[in-house]
Amino acid sequence: MAAVFVTASWLLFYGISASPIMSLDRPDGYCKQLNIPVFATAPSAIYNIPRVNSNIEATAWAIYDATRTTPHDLSNILKNTTTSDIFNIHAQLCIPKASAKKDILQIATHGLHYDSRYWDSEYQPANHSYVDATLKAGYSILTYDRLGTGQSDHPDAYEVVQAPLEVEILKQLTLMARNGTLYNIAEKADPVGAAFSALTNPNKIVHVGHSFGSVLTSSFIAKYGNLTDGAIITGYLFGQFLASTGSTTFSVDYAATSSPPYDRPSGYVVCKRDGIQNIFFGGDLKTAFTPELLNYGNAIKQPAPIGELASAFWIINEYGPSFKAPIQYLLPEFDFYVCRGDCNNLANKTQLMGRYPNATALDVVIHPNTGHALPLHKNATAGFQLTYDFLAKNGL
Ligand SMILES: *[C@@H]1O[C@H](CO)[C@@H](O)[C@H](O)[C@H]1NC(C)=O
Ligand SMILES: *[C@@H]1O[C@H](CO)[C@@H](O)[C@H](O)[C@H]1NC(C)=O
Ligand SMILES: *[C@@H]1O[C@H](CO)[C@@H](O)[C@H](O)[C@H]1NC(C)=O
Ligand SMILES: *[C@@H]1O[C@H](CO)[C@@H](O)[C@H](O)[C@H]1NC(C)=O
Ligand SMILES: *[C@@H]1O[C@H](CO)[C@@H](O)[C@H](O)[C@H]1NC(C)=O
Ligand SMILES: *[C@@H]1O[C@H](CO)[C@@H](O)[C@H](O)[C@H]1NC(C)=O
Ligand SMILES: *[C@@H]1O[C@H](CO)[C@@H](O)[C@H](O)[C@H]1NC(C)=O
Repeated sequence: MAAVFVTASWLLFYGISASPIMSLDRPDGYCKQLNIPVFATAPSAIYNIPRVNSNIEATAWAIYDATRTTPHDLSNILKNTTTSDIFNIHAQLCIPKASAKKDILQIATHGLHYDSRYWDSEYQPANHSYVDATLKAGYSILTYDRLGTGQSDHPDAYEVVQAPLEVEILKQLTLMARNGTLYNIAEKADPVGAAFSALTNPNKIVHVGHSFGSVLTSSFIAKYGNLTDGAIITGYLFGQFLASTGSTTFSVDYAATSSPPYDRPSGYVVCKRDGIQNIFFGGDLKTAFTPELLNYGNAIKQPAPIGELASAFWIINEYGPSFKAPIQYLLPEFDFYVCRGDCNNLANKTQLMGRYPNATALDVVIHPNTGHALPLHKNATAGFQLTYDFLAKNGL
């Protein structure tokens, strides 16, 4: 009873509503909630991974996944399959009130353990919402709940929600944004109003990622370089320290029976509060973040399906000569999961250029005194500005 009350009061405190936000108005733009039917097809597989139906099995899976001899490659496949289906993807499209950059659309893909709210903090939005900052900087922005999270579909955690399928979903959303389908859906969605009528299609699309969303974005721009005009890779750097702390760092429970419980099937796991801190928060305790920010980061966490981790190897560190646009790597200085707590001097520009040999610009920038969840630290807006500066410098 007490636990329920505490949870509910935190949600109220932060103004988090269970139902979709219906209000269109933002300080510098308008946002609409959308449910988009997305057809996607991709190679998939049945992996030799344990089942998770209890908290004990959740921790056992994390130990299995972090064990040094556990394969994360083709040898772990029992059977190759194909997944083709129409999935409901919940998204939010926001357009700035008046701006010369309105025709540039950012498509932002969040990482593991969150949904699209990662980009759009309802706690002190002026200081922590990437969406609001992006509208203020003049861009349009699409955020979406990745398959398996938030208000999007939550299909089978072992055999359906896998990395190659998620790259295809990002591709379909991008094609819809380019060919007018997305803005048509936005115009017709409730509440109908002037802000979303007669929009012209975006003429440039910038793909933004965080963490696993950056892995997906990196793969997407490698495979489909001509569908993007720029990439912002935050909280991800391929290298020896990536995920080296292991999945036990997530400190997971079985989502269906965790506290609070989530409406998810077998194989979805959710971080406990210490896991959220391990992965997402870092820097000087006096200056980097507040207990309120950590509480908020814990309140909006989401379960993750374990098939996503088994299948990630397919899309990591791909070679992308078709990418002919600018790319920025934005690294939180004290990222524990990606850089084992210190990103300084880890990025090798020669190696990064080797992945995208035809990139028109490639910058690496470190945002100081910050952990993995960039928007949920005190100096977040100065970090967002690093991205807008990079885009402006490259004509976006
Ligand atoms: C699955 O497909 C990959 C190639 O895409 C192949 O190397 C692997 O042997 C296949 N695995 C099985 C069990 O058929
Ligand atoms: C933003 O952060 C500053 C400094 O912590 C604080 O004084 C201010 O109230 C915050 N603004 C909003 C709108 O939350
Ligand atoms: C736009 O792209 C989507 C996604 O690929 C596709 O389903 C749709 O048929 C396309 N619409 C038009 C008008 O080309
Ligand atoms: C991108 O390249 C693919 C494969 O080369 C081609 O089929 C497609 O038409 C191109 N799309 C655009 C928007 O240029
Ligand atoms: C891209 O880079 C590769 C390797 O440097 C080069 O061979 C190729 O001609 C470039 N252009 C395209 C369109 O791929
Ligand atoms: C960066 O990578 C290149 C290519 O692998 C290598 O030659 C170079 O020594 C590396 N630089 C540093 C500072 O490690
Ligand atoms: C805030 O972030 C900006 C951009 O990374 C950086 O230049 C500045 O030093 C940071 N300020 C503090 C107090 O960490």
